[in-house]
Amino acid sequence: MKKAMGKIVGKSVLSLALVVGFVSATRAESNAEKLYKAKCMGCHAADGSANTKAGKNTGAHDFRLPDVAKETDATLIEIVTKGKKKMPKFEEKLKAKEIKELVEYVRGFSKKS
Ligand code: HEC
Repeated sequence: MKKAMGKIVGKSVLSLALVVGFVSATRAESNAEKLYKAKCMGCHAADGSANTKAGKNTGAHDFRLPDVAKETDATLIEIVTKGKKKMPKFEEKLKAKEIKELVEYVRGFSKKS
């Protein structure tokens, strides 16, 4: 009987660890995603295509184009931080770490397609 209990406890500890690991992994990912949806999607669209009314009005580019992919992280971070033409600056609204995560997130669009 004691052995069986040990097995059950062992199993629940393992599944708890899996659940905790899973939750923290998705959280790290969704922070950039959440920020993107709240602050960037209006112009850049959910898929990064900039295929929105505001995207067209401001002349935002499709993130999946090679023109954007060939830019260095430093350039893209600079554009999000300081702004460029109609692209608003986010230096007062976001932390440097968040901007870095957003640039990585934006890069993900070209990897997916
Ligand atoms: C008001 C519309 C608008 C919003 C909101 C906006 N952008 Fe932009 N973004 C632009 C435009 C327009 C450009 C192109 C600037 C230019 O003329 O080179 C741009 C350019 C960029 C670029 C450089 C690559 C490229 O396409 O030329 C990055 C990276 C970028 N935006 C990321 C973001 C992120 C991240 C957010 C949210 C924190 C955001 N943008 C919010 C309009 C917007």
